[in-house]
Amino acid sequence: MRKRIVAGNWKMNKTLDEGLALATEVVNIVNDEVNDDVMAILCTPFVHLSQVAKIVSGSEKVFLAAQNVSEHASGAYTGEVSVDMLKSIDVTHVILGHSERREYYHETNAQLAAKVDIVLAGNLNPIFCCGESLEVRESGNHAAFVTNQLEESLFHLSSAEMLNVVIAYEPIWAIGTGVTASSDQAQEMHKTIRSFLASKYGQSVADDITILYGGSAKPSNAPELFSKPDVDGGLIGGASLKARDFVDILKSY
Ligand code: 13P
Repeated sequence: MRKRIVAGNWKMNKTLDEGLALATEVVNIVNDEVNDDVMAILCTPFVHLSQVAKIVSGSEKVFLAAQNVSEHASGAYTGEVSVDMLKSIDVTHVILGHSERREYYHETNAQLAAKVDIVLAGNLNPIFCCGESLEVRESGNHAAFVTNQLEESLFHLSSAEMLNVVIAYEPIWAIGTGVTASSDQAQEMHKTIRSFLASKYGQSVADDITILYGGSAKPSNAPELFSKPDVDGGLIGGASLKARDFVDILKSY
């Protein structure tokens, strides 16, 4: 049975004090109000991680993710953060291949394959992002574009490794724009992704992989998105910066 997950990607927002206050509020409300069968993940800036780790350690339902990691194990890589550093502070997940990193920092499918490998070797779970631009969507090539991202960065993995990957489908045209994919558009792509995973790993592995939707998800549209059979939760940007909104999305299940 695949897990349902709602992850909040804070991106480059919140000072340390603001972040600690937000994490504290989220943990308190989640502990009180949210079902055991939905996992919450806070994806904070690096600066916040070690202190937010102490806050989430008081919860069985809230976990911690980094938004990126180096593909190198250690050494002379100024400004980078390693998997071992994240492990040392109880991070469990790492977002990889967010479209903002692909676009602004030129991360490639090959580089992301190396990041996926080092994250899995460290027994952390990648939250692997994929998704097409508006131009690709309008050309009708979105399914081929997204399946190519998966193939080039993930399909070298064994089935056992693949089962530790969470996939996040985030159409770029829906990120931060207020334009959400319709629940039918999300379902169509999630089903395409799951079928593509099944073509390589078999249906039972594909059925156990969590596929999140991301892009202008909020409390008002989450229930409809999450009602779709292949949508297993969300990767939430803007709405994760307010504890009440984030928890209300978690409660959409
Ligand atoms: P928004 O929810 O702000 O559109 O961002 C989505 C996203 O990029 C999450 O990673």
